[in-house]
This record gives sequence, structure tokens and C-alpha cells, in this order.
Amino acid sequence: MMLKIANIVGARPNFMKIAPIHRLMQSHNGFSPFLIHTGQHYDEKMSQTFFKELGMPEPDLYLGVGSGSHARQTAAIMIELEKIFFEQRPDRVVVVGDVNSTLAASLVASKLHIPVAHVEAGLRSFDRTMPEEINRILTDSVSDLMFVSEKSGLTNLKNEGFSGNKIHLVGNVMIDSLIEHLDKAEASTILDDLGIKSGDYALMTLHRPSNVDDEEVLRDIVSALEMITNDLPVIFPIHPRALKMLQEFKLDQEIRRLNNLFLLEPLGYLTFLKLMRYARLILTDSGGIQEETTYLKVPCLTLRQNTERPVTIELGTNRLVGSSKEDIISAVEAVINGDGVTGEIPHLWDGKSAARIVEILSQFNG
Ligand code: UD1
Repeated sequence: MMLKIANIVGARPNFMKIAPIHRLMQSHNGFSPFLIHTGQHYDEKMSQTFFKELGMPEPDLYLGVGSGSHARQTAAIMIELEKIFFEQRPDRVVVVGDVNSTLAASLVASKLHIPVAHVEAGLRSFDRTMPEEINRILTDSVSDLMFVSEKSGLTNLKNEGFSGNKIHLVGNVMIDSLIEHLDKAEASTILDDLGIKSGDYALMTLHRPSNVDDEEVLRDIVSALEMITNDLPVIFPIHPRALKMLQEFKLDQEIRRLNNLFLLEPLGYLTFLKLMRYARLILTDSGGIQEETTYLKVPCLTLRQNTERPVTIELGTNRLVGSSKEDIISAVEAVINGDGVTGEIPHLWDGKSAARIVEILSQFNG
């Protein structure tokens, strides 16, 4: 019997996680996968570009829910998915990560008694002011299979009382995609286009509400950038949410005036991989970039107080810096002065995580 699998994506960081899983399922004779895109992210540069570069097929279904408050966005996805799950009757639903689309899909599926597999289960920041932490906890609580990317996930799930046979340490599917595309990314001409030398720039991303929605915090980060750009060019591909908030706080003119700052639109996957690989250091509040820099052994300064991915600090090149001007500047100076962190690659971040997931799913008869 072919198992009908609904693979769910919604936001940018979902695409490189589902891509290797969906592809392996397509060539597996036990699975008939279909891809549903909720439309949480909809700008071409946040969505279609990634489908193309990752070699993913067009989604079988596109819900087009777009932006909104958490309740509106989550509810809109749930209403659409309920109709689809009723019609299509998938045997399993696979969700990845911790975005609103992840939670919405797992709630709908579990109430229809469709087994849910959560990829990237068990990560915890222990900070419930983060919407993603709520999404992670709730998604895990209704999941039938939990695929864990690092050991802390096993510990967290065990502490929360989940039964061991649901939980599988499989490694990191985002790293599967990274390994697969690293060579292709070399063809990007971004460094020449910007006139910047390899190893001689910082790369920055920012989008978390705690950094971009708070005027004082964002102002502090912009003034840190002013100092950093005296030493090092900074490449800053900007997330639409961060751009909107810079404009709202009238900080966009200020940031555009900085000489050594390259404010760019959101970049494609391959270009961004190349920029990460050759950066002197990376400043970010993203979850995935903490992991990608660990794999690439590039120093990562995380502008947050906590991380749900502690292995990137324990073994990798990541450091928690916070978001104050002083802390950011001194962390950057430390890296520039040679205090670069060397790191190790975590267990099972080997490019084969999607294969492990597909194998376990094929054995699962829940
Ligand atoms: C979402 C995820 C976050 C993830 C991030 C990666 C949740 C709660 N958050 O945050 O975990 O790290 O994606 O990017 O699911 N917008 C556009 N075009 C788009 C998408 C968004 O302009 O294609 C703007 C809109 O103004 C929107 C805002 O960005 O209101 C926020 O989008 P949303 O999907 O709610 O959350 P993100 O901040 O992108």
C-alpha cells in the first residue's frame, strides 16, 4: 500500500528542511507525497526563489493565507487545511520547524486522527515570550513521531514525559540541504558584484520580534552597526518584517547612510550559502543560521539571550551575545582580534538525516 503523505511548508526556513524529505519520498515506492504550501511567506524572494534553487516541484496545493496576527494567520491555515485533509485523507502529515504553519497543520491533523511527524522536535529555548517556543511545545505535544536534530531535544522530550518509542535522533535536515548545495553555491558572483573580499566582511540577518519590533533595541543594533562598519563591511539582506519596522521607527535613512553597509533585499539560498561560507563572522537572530554556521565553522554571534539549539554553542561556533550595543561591539571585536571560535560538527549532521526520517516513517504503523 502506498502511504499518502502531506508535507507541509509555510515560511522560508521550512523549504530547505522539507526539500530532501519530499524528494526521497517521491522516489520511494512506499510513499505518495504531496506538498502543501500555506503561503505564510509569499514574496517571491521569500518563497518561489527557494523552490527553484532547491529543485523542489511546485506545491501541489497553495493556500495563500499571507500575513496577519498570530491568531488570524494560524486560524486561516487551520480552516484551509481541514478542508484539504478531509478531501485528500492523507495517511501521515509531516511538519518541520516551529513556525505558525507547523502548529496549525499539526493541530488540524491530530484532531482528524492523522498521525503527525514533527521534524526538528524537542528544541526548547525555555522562553515563552517567543512565539516559536509556543509552537514547538504544542506541536510536539500532538505529534506521533518526533525527529530530533540534536541531543538536547532528546533530553527535553524525556523531561516532558514523552514516550521513548516516538522519539528518534536523526540529525539535521537543514544540513542535508546545505551539504547538497554547497558546491553549486560557489557559482554565485555576489562577492565580486559587491566588490568585497572573501573573509573580509560580516554578514547580518535580523527578524525576530524581540529585536525588530522594539524601537530601543533596534536603535541600539543600528548604532552598533555604525561602529562595526568602521572596521568591516557588513552585508545585511533584510527580512520584510525588519524593513517595515526600520521604516516605522524612521531608522531606515540612518542605516542607508552607513558607508560600509550593504543593505540588500532577501537573498536566494545559494547566494546566501556562499556569503555565509566566506564571512569573517555572522550576526544573526535566526535559528537555522546558528546551525549552518556551526557546520561551516564560521563564527556566529547570536543577538539573543537564549537559544533552543544549545549544541551550536557547546560544540559549534555560536555565541549568545544579546542585543545591546556594547555587547555586540565587544563580541565583534573579540572575533576580529583573533578570538575566533573553532568548533566540531554535531552527531548525525552528515547529510543523511532525511534518509533516516523516510526509513523510520516507512516502518511506522501507528
Ligand atoms: C516567520 C516565523 C519565524 C521564522 C521566520 C523566518 C512564525 C511565528 N514566525 O517569522 O519563526 O524564523 O518566519 O523568516 O511563524 N512579510 C512579507 N512578505 C512575506 C512574509 C512576511 O512582507 O513573504 C512581512 C509581513 O509584513 C508580515 C511580517 O513580514 O506581517 C511577518 O511575517 P510572519 O510570517 O508573520 O512572520 P516572520 O517574522 O516572517
